[in-house]
Amino acid sequence: MKWYEDDSLWSDFAPTMFSADRGEAVADLVASSPLLDFPPGSRVLDLCCGPGLFLVPLARRGYDVTGVDLSPAMLDRARTACARAGADARLVRADMASYVEPHTFDVVLNVYTSFGYFDEPDDNLQVLRNAYESLAPGGQLLVDVMGKEVLAGWIGRPQVVELPDGAYVVQRDTVLDGWRRLRTDWTLVRGSTARTASLTSFLYSGAELHDLFVAAGFTGVECFGGFDGAAYDQHSRRLIVRGTKK
Ligand SMILES: C[S@@+](CC[C@H](N)C(=O)[O-])C[C@H]1O[C@@H](n2cnc3c(N)ncnc32)[C@H](O)[C@@H]1O
Repeated sequence: MKWYEDDSLWSDFAPTMFSADRGEAVADLVASSPLLDFPPGSRVLDLCCGPGLFLVPLARRGYDVTGVDLSPAMLDRARTACARAGADARLVRADMASYVEPHTFDVVLNVYTSFGYFDEPDDNLQVLRNAYESLAPGGQLLVDVMGKEVLAGWIGRPQVVELPDGAYVVQRDTVLDGWRRLRTDWTLVRGSTARTASLTSFLYSGAELHDLFVAAGFTGVECFGGFDGAAYDQHSRRLIVRGTKK
């Protein structure tokens, strides 16, 4: 089993990845982001939607929302979150390696470092090609990752995140293959038990991800440093690449 196919990884580490605080921050971001300002009724696909942190605020912003994820546990959480909020979203279990719905969406989002998971570089490019195929003409893809340049600013320092129930997560990042890939090792300590997990994914500079979008057929490709639409520069905390299907 590949690391990203492990349902229990996403569930066990959900309290740190999908915390209530992050949920509130995402709701504010979606409500105000100029990059997420689409015409009312736009058909928006959240590819790798996880437990749906973006789905509810996207639906509230007036979009016709679809969430795709490989993990049944994450889709269950997304379904519950949408039902609680009274938000309408179509949920589909699928692998981003092969998921295509031709000419169906005005926008495809892939956020919070949900890209670069496959060992073969071409398989990651295929995800962009699939998104291209799923977009209607004029539609746009946005991919949000931790850019190589951003990571270079803080890599090497282990991070510790304390959870509300007293458990904590230690995160250590290791650069692999001459900065091609990153391994993130997590240890979750709760009482006297520890649960570990390792995630390995490709790393992209702004230029590299830009060129991958171009290789997939996108035009007007731009890099941003955050959902506020700021330029991608030495102050950025994220790398967001946006491209348009002709
Ligand atoms: C880091 S989480 C991000 C979730 C969500 N985008 C967010 O902002 O909270 C990555 C998600 O990608 C999903 N995933 C991993 N591999 C996948 C694949 N091959 N196809 C579809 N979804 C996948 C996981 O189940 C997980 O929910």
